[in-house]
Amino acid sequence: MKDEARLSVRIDPVGNLIGRRQGKNEGPSLLLGSHLDTVRGGGRFDGVSGVIAAIEVIRRFAEMGIENVHPIEVVAFLAEEPSPFGLSTIGSRGMAGKLSLGLIESLRDEKGRTLGEAIREVGGDPSRLDEARRSSADVLSYLELHIEQGPCLDSQRIPIGVVTGVAGIVRGRIEVIGRSDHSGTTPMDVRKDALAAGAEAVLSLERICRKWAGVVGTVGSIDLFPNTTNVVPGRMILYWEVRSLQKDLLALAVSSYEKELRRIHEERGVEILFESATSSDPITFDANLVERIVRVCKRLDIPHIQLSSGAGHDASHIATVAPTAMIFIPSKDGRSHCPEEWTEIEHIGLGTEVLACTIMDLDRDA
Ligand code: GLV
Ligand code: MN
Ligand code: MN
Repeated sequence: MKDEARLSVRIDPVGNLIGRRQGKNEGPSLLLGSHLDTVRGGGRFDGVSGVIAAIEVIRRFAEMGIENVHPIEVVAFLAEEPSPFGLSTIGSRGMAGKLSLGLIESLRDEKGRTLGEAIREVGGDPSRLDEARRSSADVLSYLELHIEQGPCLDSQRIPIGVVTGVAGIVRGRIEVIGRSDHSGTTPMDVRKDALAAGAEAVLSLERICRKWAGVVGTVGSIDLFPNTTNVVPGRMILYWEVRSLQKDLLALAVSSYEKELRRIHEERGVEILFESATSSDPITFDANLVERIVRVCKRLDIPHIQLSSGAGHDASHIATVAPTAMIFIPSKDGRSHCPEEWTEIEHIGLGTEVLACTIMDLDRDA
């Protein structure tokens, strides 16, 4: 398919795989793409469908002899999902100039390999990081087709979602330090059980995030030490995230969480170390581009709605570089990040058509 699309392919310094179709003119490109990595145990359509759709658009242009005025580039972004290096959306962050060489060489996976080494292994070159950076001078627009990963389209039987924005994400780590003791001889009232305190921390996040519509929070990963049946757990690490489209709510939920953790520390006498870092800000997509996709759907007579995304995307970072928008297609029963994730081929086809027509309009008008 890549050969049929006749793309010239390269890997940029941050490890993004980029296929380029020349335009009649030199100058800034129209960018399409998504990611190829998946979460463990799920994600056959998450990301992949957007890359395949983008290549299919170019393949059809080649087949039909359509000559684009502007260069078109298809990007398979490196490592969109949370990676073993503790960072997600690595390729799009690099393209948006949000990574430094220092950060890349300092992040390590559990085997001690640096992110820099991993990027070199896939053909990138972090020492030339600046060359991966794109700007509005060389990107006209970015468009990403993606599965919705939620229930709106499927439950309403609507094939296309025009995405108006993406929720921001704050992620962090909590370390609960209690005391390991014999589980048979240590009375209940003198224990410093890190798991019992950590369990309270999990429930607190759930309780806090239920207070506001439009805020979600998850503890999705834990490490427990020593993790043995007959030892009172001495240490627990919890990895958490909170998401919202509203920056103020995001900050409020995180500060409420920190307060709750202080209460657990005081009540249970365990140490609680709290770390939080913004992973991505809430993003509103370019209104003109959203409107353009809506016009294409109307012209093609395809039922559509506008909606926002609770899932994170490379598009959030590229939106800081150039006008950006996304096209969603339905996820069966709203399921994603699990083995049941599914999208019908007819919906992938319709989404690809909307993508192709929007690119043709942009190419003509830009
Ligand atoms: C990406 O899949 C995310 O929303 O975490
Ligand atoms: Mn995903
Ligand atoms: Mn994705």
